[in-house]
Amino acid sequence: GAPVEVDVGKLEPGQMLTVEWRGNPVWVVRRSQKMIDALPSLDDRLRDPESEVASQQPEYAQNPTRSVKEDYWVGVGICTHLGCSPTFRPEFGPDDLGADWKGGFFCPCHGSRFDLAGRVFQGVPAPTNLVVPPHRYTAENKILVG
Ligand code: FES
Repeated sequence: GAPVEVDVGKLEPGQMLTVEWRGNPVWVVRRSQKMIDALPSLDDRLRDPESEVASQQPEYAQNPTRSVKEDYWVGVGICTHLGCSPTFRPEFGPDDLGADWKGGFFCPCHGSRFDLAGRVFQGVPAPTNLVVPPHRYTAENKILVG
């Protein structure tokens, strides 16, 4: 499939947009500073906090925010369990398991949870973090996916 250009100029902090790339949804989340600051606090609840499974992201996104710029996260919106599309849950607060939810993604099919860097929580069926597709910035507010 051809690369897809995404204009993120109108995306507000805390919002997400979805584009299609190679028949799959690709998400671009603009993380607020609060969301960015919360990421490290989740590390001990995650299966692969350092994103050591190298196939899940390009080398330039193998970092604590899994991104090129820390405010924008680009990810393939397909659960790594059996391929459902998780829902965006940007809010903070107690979740339905009583855990301190700091925003992320919830898969309705079998309950997998991911943080706002697409990192999978422990104790859910999804084995790995969500995939970060190849992408680069062609301008301040333009991302080329693919
Ligand atoms: Fe997402 Fe099973 S497909 S938890």
